[in-house]
Amino acid sequence: MKTVVVLGGTGFIGRSVMRLLQERGQRAVSLSRREGCDLLDLEGLTDRLAALRPQALINCAAHVGSLHYVSRNAADVIHDNMRMILNVYAALRGVCPSAVLVNPISNCSYPGEAAVQVESEWQNGPVHDSVLAFGSTRRMIHALAASYQRQHGVGSVNWLVPNAYGPGDASDPDRVHALNGIIIRLLRARKAGERRFEIWGSGRPVREWVYVDDAARVLVESLEGGTQIDPVNIAQKQGHSIAEIAALAAKVLGYEVELVFNTRYPDGAPSKILDDRRFREKFPHFRFMPIEDGISRTIDYYRSAS
Ligand SMILES: NC(=O)c1ccc[n+]([C@@H]2O[C@H](COP(=O)([O-])OP(=O)(O)OC[C@H]3O[C@@H](n4cnc5c(N)ncnc54)[C@H](OP(=O)(O)O)[C@@H]3O)[C@@H](O)[C@H]2O)c1
Repeated sequence: MKTVVVLGGTGFIGRSVMRLLQERGQRAVSLSRREGCDLLDLEGLTDRLAALRPQALINCAAHVGSLHYVSRNAADVIHDNMRMILNVYAALRGVCPSAVLVNPISNCSYPGEAAVQVESEWQNGPVHDSVLAFGSTRRMIHALAASYQRQHGVGSVNWLVPNAYGPGDASDPDRVHALNGIIIRLLRARKAGERRFEIWGSGRPVREWVYVDDAARVLVESLEGGTQIDPVNIAQKQGHSIAEIAALAAKVLGYEVELVFNTRYPDGAPSKILDDRRFREKFPHFRFMPIEDGISRTIDYYRSAS
């Protein structure tokens, strides 16, 4: 049986990946700090991988958070994420160079102004200033993957992933991504009997959203294919504005509330929709969770978790 190591298997995407691997009967082992493995420590990571000898790894470990968190902690974010990915490739090369590494790369690494994100234009312009620290390190994953394959034959499968949402994310609105953060704050506002609900920013930015288990399914299924150094979008080519998402979540909740927009918060890039042509070539029959169902499941999760 294959051993698959999930780096950051205790995080939002990592937990979903772990569950799916276990459901499929794979031997899945998570490595994260709370399990005694800090990816900033190359020696410790190398020892763990030497003991496990995995055939594949899915890299869901990162120092990440909301737009505001990443901006406020920019130096720590760039330092930790660069060091983590450098260590992962160095450790792989040292003890299991024939293992394949799957990397979910956030689509915040696309040029800030790209309205439709097409893979061939991924690095044709700077990342948006609001996510400079994190987005730049995501581009380095590609450079590392290409270089380690060229010199050491280490294989990688790189995916570009839009904003994920769904059950299982953190409950601190500062650390979660926008959609889950809105749901958490809406639940709190409704409990407190608020009649107005504040959106951070203008509400106008359009984003593509992927249900967490859909993203995990693509990552896991790609273990069966070949390497993919040039990343491919996990894409539906469909977006919803933050205001639309908040209105939809309030509707699912049956919560009649006025949405107000606090424009003192930065918006980030105006639009991020992912081109789906390459994805459809690879997964022609893939069905994504409809957004209303996904929001409804996410609301159920946070209701039962609170
Ligand atoms: N969530 C999204 O919307 C989204 C969208 C696109 C791409 N992605 C990408 O998917 C990956 C995972 O994102 P996520 O949202 O699942 O993040 P998350 O919930 O914050 O999980 C991060 C994971 O990394 C681990 N970790 C952090 N620092 C570590 C360290 N120094 N050593 C070992 N483990 C460490 C954490 O566990 P410990 O704290 O216990 O160490 C946790 O398990 C990231 O690369 C992210 O860019 C996410």
